[in-house]
Amino acid sequence: MEKLTNIEIEKQRGYIQKMRLVNERATSSPKAFVETYGCAQNENDSERISGMLFDMGYGFCEDAKDADLIIYNTCAVRENAELRVFGNLGALKHLKAKKPELIIGVCGCMVQQEHIAEQIKKKYKHVDMVFGTHALWRLPELLAEAMENGRAFDVHTSDGEIFEGITTKREKSPLAKIPIMYGCNNFCTYCIVPYVRGRERSRTVDSVLKEVREVAALGYKEVMLLGQNVNSYGNDLSDGISFAKLLEEVCTVDGIERIRFMTSHPKDISDELICVMARNDKICKQLHLPVQCGSDRILKKMNRSYTRDKYLDIVRKVRQAMPDIVLTTDIIVGFPGETNEDFEETMSILREVEYDMIFSFIYSKRKGTPAAEMEDCLSAEEKHQNFERMVAFQNEISKRKNDAYLGRCEKVLVEGLSKTNPKFLSGRTDGGKIVNFRGEEGMTGEIVNVRITEIKTWSLIGEIID
Ligand code: 5AD
Ligand code: SF4
Repeated sequence: MEKLTNIEIEKQRGYIQKMRLVNERATSSPKAFVETYGCAQNENDSERISGMLFDMGYGFCEDAKDADLIIYNTCAVRENAELRVFGNLGALKHLKAKKPELIIGVCGCMVQQEHIAEQIKKKYKHVDMVFGTHALWRLPELLAEAMENGRAFDVHTSDGEIFEGITTKREKSPLAKIPIMYGCNNFCTYCIVPYVRGRERSRTVDSVLKEVREVAALGYKEVMLLGQNVNSYGNDLSDGISFAKLLEEVCTVDGIERIRFMTSHPKDISDELICVMARNDKICKQLHLPVQCGSDRILKKMNRSYTRDKYLDIVRKVRQAMPDIVLTTDIIVGFPGETNEDFEETMSILREVEYDMIFSFIYSKRKGTPAAEMEDCLSAEEKHQNFERMVAFQNEISKRKNDAYLGRCEKVLVEGLSKTNPKFLSGRTDGGKIVNFRGEEGMTGEIVNVRITEIKTWSLIGEIID
């Protein structure tokens, strides 16, 4: 496995220093605006982008209009995320015309696709920097180049790098996101991720533990370990480490009281992992186990490598070991060739498993993936109808699952003021359910006991009982 060499790290530090001097000489301290699209992995990448910007002397603003530097960190998983970025980029043309010294950068998964990078280069001339997921660490150099030469691009595809040693400027949250691996080897036929994020590469146990200890020392009580498929963590390392063993190591870090992880591919979930989860109180009893669909015929076309029965066996095992586990999943409706009969199989798996919550998507064609060449049989309207029916059905299940929490006392990590009602605090139970309750903002970061007094479909309402 290739890593960033010391020379590259030295080079990066040199450019950070150079940019810092430029920014120190500016008449007013420059402000950056970083917008993130997509998943937790992207959010973590943005935290590292912000870390580098901070090291370069940038301050941060909440509104793109006030910024001297705008960076969009993009997602390629579905087309609507891309359309949103194009729309927002179009709107920035105006801003750049009024403020020519403004620097606009687009990075992340979307521009790792060649046709998109080309489109931005040719049609969005007001964009100064384009860099892919593999070139994240080169931001300081690209920024210096864009300032000197007008534009800078790096969307090369290379698989081997892991970026260690980049400052992370974490979002305001008591939960620290820690990547344990990058990339994906699974090539589900609908998914662009393996093409834009490259092959699986695991961080060493030492690097992960070092970062967990750092966040514990900063006062974080909860960590979220990230990977496209955390269950295959360590397969590319030579020390025989598994994800379950890594989890046990993370459990030994003082100060960390809760550990979550995302995402688990069902085909790789091991008995060892279920056992480790069940016997460690620090590991949250929450499992996100994407099933994608309930029909064996479609699962095969998706290249998911499990059958409906095998998936249900895993759910049974997990629930036997942890009866209180909160289970969530991802579902794709309208995969090419999906019939109404296949869709009914998805409805029946929802009925059978009774997930606490699902993340549901209508299939979106991704250029370059095998599914993009497969024939469709349902109309867009039929797919939408099925989708709406499924969401309504799951809402009933979610509400019913939440009803069981009424009157219960739950330990909640306070995440801060509720975004929808600032009179309330918001936090999560061990199982990851959102709870809103009255309290002081200063409690953010603490774990408090909350009695659940009211149930909603998506969240719980409660009162502190300490
Ligand atoms: N269309 C719709 N949903 C998709 N996902 C991944 N690729 C696509 C696509 N082309 C969904 C899967 C995955 C989640 C992160 O996004 O359900 O688990
Ligand atoms: Fe995409 Fe499948 Fe990899 Fe998940 S496991 S990132 S759905 S290819």
